[in-house]
Amino acid sequence: MHHDPQIWGDDVNEFRPDRFAHGISSASKMNFAFLPFSSGPRFCEGQNFAMMETKMALAMMLRSIHFELSSSYLHAPFPIITLLPQYGAPLVLHYL
Ligand code: HEM
Repeated sequence: MHHDPQIWGDDVNEFRPDRFAHGISSASKMNFAFLPFSSGPRFCEGQNFAMMETKMALAMMLRSIHFELSSSYLHAPFPIITLLPQYGAPLVLHYL
């Protein structure tokens, strides 16, 4: 299912994390096409552990990056339950 061009498009084999920029359900032509840990009674037993490991690895990698708010940032707090930056918060990444 994760390799089907009818679901993901002709660029299915390309590494394009931006597919998920608007959430998992918008990433493909089928709402529930992304099931990396499978689903149902035999879904992955290690899902929570794997996700925790991934977050720890990401946190370790982020330690070597300094984040700076881009000069294109426009301060426009927008209330949707919590406050969100209306035009996003573009960042400049500096590798330490
Ligand atoms: C990114 C990491 C992982 C991915 C993408 C993944 C994915 C999957 C998938 C798709 C299945 C179902 C396989 C099937 O239907 O035949 C599965 C099963 C399973 N996974 Fe993972 N897994 C991951 C990590 C782990 C880890 C870290 C553990 C254990 C510490 C683990 C333990 C298991 C077990 C025991 C099953 C069998 C569950 C059953 O048959 O009832 N997985 N995994």
